[in-house]
Amino acid sequence: MRYFILITLLLACNSLAFANTGKPIADTLEHGSVLLDTDGQPINAHGAGVMYHKGIYYLFGEIKNGKTWLVPGQNWEDYRVPAGGISCYSSTDLKHWKKRGIALKPTVNDPGNDLDTSRVIERPKVIYNEQTRKFVMWMHIDKNDYNYSRGGVAISDSPVGPYQYLGSVKPNDQMLRDMTLYKDEDGKAYLIYSSEDNNTMHICLLSDDYLKPTKTYVRVFENKKRESPAIFKHNGKYFLITSGCTGWSPNAASYAVADNIMGPWTEQGNPCKGPNAEVTFFSQGAFVLPVAGEPGKFIFMGDVWNKTDLEKSSYLWLPLSINDDKVEIYNP
Ligand code: GLA
Repeated sequence: MRYFILITLLLACNSLAFANTGKPIADTLEHGSVLLDTDGQPINAHGAGVMYHKGIYYLFGEIKNGKTWLVPGQNWEDYRVPAGGISCYSSTDLKHWKKRGIALKPTVNDPGNDLDTSRVIERPKVIYNEQTRKFVMWMHIDKNDYNYSRGGVAISDSPVGPYQYLGSVKPNDQMLRDMTLYKDEDGKAYLIYSSEDNNTMHICLLSDDYLKPTKTYVRVFENKKRESPAIFKHNGKYFLITSGCTGWSPNAASYAVADNIMGPWTEQGNPCKGPNAEVTFFSQGAFVLPVAGEPGKFIFMGDVWNKTDLEKSSYLWLPLSINDDKVEIYNP
């Protein structure tokens, strides 16, 4: 059942946690159930990211709908499910998530199109550009064998969409697979992605409108085969959590710290502690969410993949703490 275990603890002790019921959110969340939206439907937002904008959290994720199948002729477990586009949910308390519809629609029976349901559309992340006043979404676009390996970009005037797809790119002619997006306090934004056939990660500065990679990029964790980057900043330092590279099967996370986003990055080992820490509590990181108005409070958002029935995949959200630049994640 643990593969269906959902979410779980948010923050043990903060003002948000005591909203509504007078109890900490941790005490009010159920274990062992599927994360539901405010209509009582399972949330379909995998490989997710969250944007906080004007007092509202917007959750974006992969819609996985339909039968899972195994791509023949691969030397790894290439389980695939139709790509249903990108969903959006919103919340003001991190607990009640209202479905806001499909932020980016897929296309159907159009295999040449990046957004066709036969393609891979993964790990969407959204940031707001103050200069252009556009919401900018980046995502991993691929084909069934994962060799197309490009970053797709879409924009919208509204956080919930609809997003207009602008196309896909190989940044500096390099592969892009698992990715995240980071907007820094100075307004600069960066794409962070597994590249070079998953061997090495790249961190690439985006253009001022956030729509194009620039030529400014660094190679990090060279030949370390890291995936699922999740980045956050605390007290002027950058933290980057990644997973190993074992497809949909869980493995040990690792994190690194840096004074400058372009490095050097110093590896620190596994942030997860306690039983099953070596497999990230059977999850894989998707995002680290800073709780608004609560400096130092973060939520590690993971996916609990069900590889043979991917649409049944669920989530694990855990409190993440930082003490003396050491990151710790427990699964209570
Ligand atoms: C890894 C990635 C996922 C997905 C699968 C495909 O788990 O992190 O986003 O691409 O591989 O097997």
